[in-house]
Amino acid sequence: MTKNISARLKEISEYISPDDRVADIGSDHGYLLLLLLDKGCKRLLGIENKNGPFLHLKENLNQYLNDKIEVSFSDGLSYLPADINTLAFAGMGGKNIISILSNNESKLEQIEKIVVSPHIDIPALRRYLTGKGYYIESEDIIFDEKYYFVDVFKKGSKTYTDEEIYFGPILLSVQPYLFRKYYQELADHYRHLLLTAPLDSVRKKELNDKISYIKEYVREK
Ligand SMILES: C[S@@+](CC[C@H](N)C(=O)[O-])C[C@H]1O[C@@H](n2cnc3c(N)ncnc32)[C@H](O)[C@@H]1O
Repeated sequence: MTKNISARLKEISEYISPDDRVADIGSDHGYLLLLLLDKGCKRLLGIENKNGPFLHLKENLNQYLNDKIEVSFSDGLSYLPADINTLAFAGMGGKNIISILSNNESKLEQIEKIVVSPHIDIPALRRYLTGKGYYIESEDIIFDEKYYFVDVFKKGSKTYTDEEIYFGPILLSVQPYLFRKYYQELADHYRHLLLTAPLDSVRKKELNDKISYIKEYVREK
């Protein structure tokens, strides 16, 4: 049933346990929900706010819709039954996730765990969620044609330095191979831009600062 599903979605599913009652926000094809069903999750809700993806979602999950998986055509957290205690957000930008959460912030009261894999702006999301009563329980980086970060937030509080928010506190401390590779490639990309692109002095300074920040915190080997 789920054999063509990406490594990225499989990685996200690793952080959800069978007892979690999960809403997948922006489900689209619904593959994450199928993985979670395979894993034994008993309460699954797929949320989509666009027609095409919602039809896709219903079609792909058709045989499970009566009892095992619920789907909702709704915006963000506007429809969120009180028993849901876990949110998953994958394949959207960190700022979009922040906007979805802040539009219905009172719903966070019922949410114990939030698993995110945004394709951009993860530091902003870390800053937002750690300011709303969550701490970062787990983090990972994987490569599945591109690099993807996964962060797991749990209810609780912890303070973080600016560099922990930027790089991720666990990734920064453990410095796994893929993390170091990602940032060395990013620094090389900035160096290449500095050599080849027509940049004004503000942009040049911005890129040089980013390279220095990476050099300061990310080990090379
Ligand atoms: C790029 S897809 C990612 C699909 C899937 N989560 C994945 O990672 O493969 C993002 C989906 O989020 C949906 N989406 C964006 N904003 C949303 C919102 N406010 N409420 C519900 N769905 C939303 C989009 O319609 C789109 O189908």
